[in-house]
Amino acid sequence: MLTVEHESSRGASGGNTIRTLLTQTVYHFSEMIKPRVSALCAVFLPFLMCISAVTAGGAQNAQLASKEINARVESLLKQMTTEEKIGQTVQYSAGFATGPSASKLTYDELVAQGRVGSMLNVVGAEHTNHYQHIAMEKSRLRIPLIFGLDVIHGHHTTFPVPLAIAATWDPEAAETVARVSAREARADGINWVFSPMVDIARDARWGRIIESNGEDPYLSSALARAWVKGYQQGDLSNADSVAACVKHFAAYGAAIAGRDYNAVDMSELTLRQIYLKPYHAAVEAGVATVMTSFNSINGVPATADPFTLTQILRKEWGFNGFVVSDWGAVAELKNHAIGDGPTVARKALEAGTDMDMEGNLYATVIAEQVRSGKIPESVLDEAVRRILRVKFALGLFDHPFTDVGPRYEPTPERRAIARKVADETMVLLKNDPMEGVGNLLPLPPKMKTVALIGPMADDALNLEGAWTVAGNPKNVITLKAALTQRLGEKLLYARGCGLLSGKDEAALKGITFTGTSSVSNQPISDDQKSIAAAVEIARKADVAILALGEPTNWMEGEASSRTTLGFTGAQEQLLEAVVATGKPVILVVLAGRPLELKWAAGHVPAILEAWSPGIAAGPAVEDILFGDVNPSGKLPASLPRAVGQEPLYYAQMPTGRPARGDLSHMPRSAPEKFVSRYMDEENSALFPFGWGLSYTRFSYSQPTVDRAEIPVHQFAQDHKPVATVGVDVKNSGSIAGTEVVQLYIRNTSASVEQPLRELKGFTRVALAPGETRHVTFPLGFDELNFYNAELKKTMEPTTYDIWVGGNSLATAATSLKIIEEKSIKRSRIGARGQMVDAHIAFCNSLRPNHLCNR
Ligand code: NOJ
Repeated sequence: MLTVEHESSRGASGGNTIRTLLTQTVYHFSEMIKPRVSALCAVFLPFLMCISAVTAGGAQNAQLASKEINARVESLLKQMTTEEKIGQTVQYSAGFATGPSASKLTYDELVAQGRVGSMLNVVGAEHTNHYQHIAMEKSRLRIPLIFGLDVIHGHHTTFPVPLAIAATWDPEAAETVARVSAREARADGINWVFSPMVDIARDARWGRIIESNGEDPYLSSALARAWVKGYQQGDLSNADSVAACVKHFAAYGAAIAGRDYNAVDMSELTLRQIYLKPYHAAVEAGVATVMTSFNSINGVPATADPFTLTQILRKEWGFNGFVVSDWGAVAELKNHAIGDGPTVARKALEAGTDMDMEGNLYATVIAEQVRSGKIPESVLDEAVRRILRVKFALGLFDHPFTDVGPRYEPTPERRAIARKVADETMVLLKNDPMEGVGNLLPLPPKMKTVALIGPMADDALNLEGAWTVAGNPKNVITLKAALTQRLGEKLLYARGCGLLSGKDEAALKGITFTGTSSVSNQPISDDQKSIAAAVEIARKADVAILALGEPTNWMEGEASSRTTLGFTGAQEQLLEAVVATGKPVILVVLAGRPLELKWAAGHVPAILEAWSPGIAAGPAVEDILFGDVNPSGKLPASLPRAVGQEPLYYAQMPTGRPARGDLSHMPRSAPEKFVSRYMDEENSALFPFGWGLSYTRFSYSQPTVDRAEIPVHQFAQDHKPVATVGVDVKNSGSIAGTEVVQLYIRNTSASVEQPLRELKGFTRVALAPGETRHVTFPLGFDELNFYNAELKKTMEPTTYDIWVGGNSLATAATSLKIIEEKSIKRSRIGARGQMVDAHIAFCNSLRPNHLCNR
């Protein structure tokens, strides 16, 4: 067995020689990793049987670790009073509110007194400069403010929502979105974005699944790295870079029952193996800041949790940026009943929450406790250091102001980028031939009459998607606008019904949750009449396109959990009425969460998952419908058959009573009954993780592994690949297309049970008609390790089943055997921890010229 220790479970590293050896073979994502060697590893050092996978204090962001920056920080810190130090830990929303009860303080005065370190929700160079001038000209130490904002899927240029971007399985797309957003945000005086959100989201009831990368830690980690890279561009001082903020730390997506802000209760093993992975990936990519989450984890509120915020984040991962609380989360610790105001503020600060977002608690209750010695001044100093480092790295001390530039315009260039990204997000769920018609998609160029029906077809606000601050629905090209331009009079349109029904629909129009609301005097629409009108136009058309979804700005994102996952209002009724006409129907789903599409999947021949596409909604849907672009998106989250299946994800654990065979009917015998199943529904997803069709066909050869058996110890040498899986992928259709080739593994025999399948590799491959490409996937410790019962990353002798294909049901399979190293197992260890010569010889025979003799 080969095991990797946590920093938590082991002490200091071995000597310098060990460090030198190990730093030559560090994990490739980190520039600054200095692995430690556990005591056990030190014993086995000459053979490098094991290496600590943790960074143990090695700084993850090289810039923040720079000597020059740290010298400037120390020199400034020495000059600061306690009040000024606390000021740096305070953040207020001086613009609009993005949470409950924003404080109404006089910010000009507070900034002049050095009592504010950061502001959020102040947008536009004129506004940020206003406060920055006060900070730089009136405050005693002239410490610049850092301006933060929710830039979730674009700033002015609104891209598809993050869950949709995850459906591209294209880290470069995420990086592009982040880069464009960073540039636009920076022009608006924003130097810090509260993104990426990488909470693993396996429960579609939770509205914030829209902001996530979906259900899988491997996919989410790859995207986390890309978002951070795009925002920070490897250099925070770059004029177009912003500091990223990975959120919400930690495990916010596992809120019990999918109810937002609810508690999280999970084993540390699951926490480490699944939920923490994407945050760790962001830290390894050098993310400058982390935001805490609202939830508690196993009884400890995340905002005051020293285990996650200090032990894991800083000591094990070497995070060297700063941590900001979520909105009001420090003050809300009182509701978690772990103490009064001063107590919870102390707990949060000591746990590692460096900045209090809009809680107004650090500002009011820390000073007294520092003075009385209840909070050691060193704790406050450390928080301030971390914040100042980021400000220095961003270059704010040298360039605090933002030039006021021209007004934002959605230029053709910006629109083209948004359209290309949106094209890639589209997932073709179904495209079955219809009797007498054939496949409905792509639509032929010469259409006679097309009926466009549904409340999402011309709803710019909802097509833009939830949670935009600087986005403007006026920039959204709707489906109706795009198709009208293409089809002219051949397009018939009917709204069909509202997104909600009756009073709900009317109320929705008058509500904004973060500003003042206006009472709507809209008449309540009559769904029955409007459905009848829609049916009429469907009858006149050759094909009906239904654009349905849910109200994104009202029922998706934060505080938007649902207990049902169907279309809202009378939309399902509308769909059924149009299908009943017998006309060919194409359903376009426009929603930021996996909706329940069971009836549709059984009755509608073609279904396109188009998410919330942003400003290019219409053109992107048009591109796919007419085949100008061949769809290539794949689901980043499973689509359920029924809400009762949630949380639903492909990487299920084994059970002693697996349900096999046909589960579409009630059990008819004891073997069908006493298994892990539902009485009234199948276990599987309606559309599984990784699913997505194309207008062409891809075929896969039998995958192969270049090595049949590998001794387990070889995986510990470093984090480089040890084996390679290869497969031929062919475009066997007649048009060009892009396939997302996915690799899944199953560890078939481990000391701790492992998921039935886990994604461990993916790549997008563009293939011309008839073209075949050999695709390879590296496998090493990073892909194959797991956490054992002692919570140590490990690999053991086993066989890995391996599948490669176009979704998580892939059937093309091979396997890889990991064997015990018998010779080493039989070895004795010399008195000073050295291996006997025979084993050095053996090691050399396996890895000539390697590290065996050192
Ligand atoms: C609360 C949300 O949970 C978080 O994601 C967001 O960044 C902050 N509010 C600031 O608006």
